[in-house]
Amino acid sequence: MSLTKFIRDVQKRHEAIPTPGAIVYNATAARVLRKPETKIANDIVEKMGSGTILDLGSGTGYLSIEIAKRTPGLQVYGIDLSRQMVKIARRHARGIENARFEFGNAADLPFEDDSIDFIVSTGSLHHWKTPARVFGECYRVLKIGKEAWIYDGCPDAFKDQADRNRMRREYGFLVYRIGTKVAGLHGFAREEYESEIKDILDQTEFKDSYQMELTDIWMKITLKKHR
Ligand SMILES: C[S@@+](CC[C@H](N)C(=O)[O-])C[C@H]1O[C@@H](n2cnc3c(N)ncnc32)[C@H](O)[C@@H]1O
Repeated sequence: MSLTKFIRDVQKRHEAIPTPGAIVYNATAARVLRKPETKIANDIVEKMGSGTILDLGSGTGYLSIEIAKRTPGLQVYGIDLSRQMVKIARRHARGIENARFEFGNAADLPFEDDSIDFIVSTGSLHHWKTPARVFGECYRVLKIGKEAWIYDGCPDAFKDQADRNRMRREYGFLVYRIGTKVAGLHGFAREEYESEIKDILDQTEFKDSYQMELTDIWMKITLKKHR
């Protein structure tokens, strides 16, 4: 069995990253993903000046903290099914009042209906044992007209050679090389998004209001609550 297949199988079996995995992730993959996630934070900060944001599967907390630091008018909640990840994220967030990290399952969110202004998630979808339930929870807690941006890795994310060159220039060779490898291990192949993930979405309340788009190292799925 190849190492890639082994790592992907382990991720499928363990929805929550186990403690040793969280410690290794904090020292490795989380660092490589900082640049691509800073870009996501920039896009969110540009769009959102106030309100409540959920980060599903917030891991070590980098993305939530980047958003919270720059926009004091936002309250960011990171939710993760790994107690060790929550512990690491809380440590990273010391002194940042508007970023809170809680242990919890994205498939059973501790928030009221129609109460959330925005949802983001990076690199977590491929861990979800019940993705349809998570999408259902996103629909329930979002306010009408609001969006969820769900990013997960895609090994064949690049559109063409020009896109590859742009990534290399923007992120530097090391992040480009390792980042694309990390993205390949944390996500799905393009065909899997276009078949299995699409089939799941087509059975949710978002069925008429979602889009998939390749961007950087990710597949970005935009969900909009229309009513
Ligand atoms: C690969 S990590 C990504 C962490 C972070 N978002 C990042 O980009 O670095 C996936 C995270 O999703 C969490 N996770 C998996 N299933 C979950 C669920 N159902 N609810 C909440 N968190 C979940 C895992 O525990 C893990 O911390």
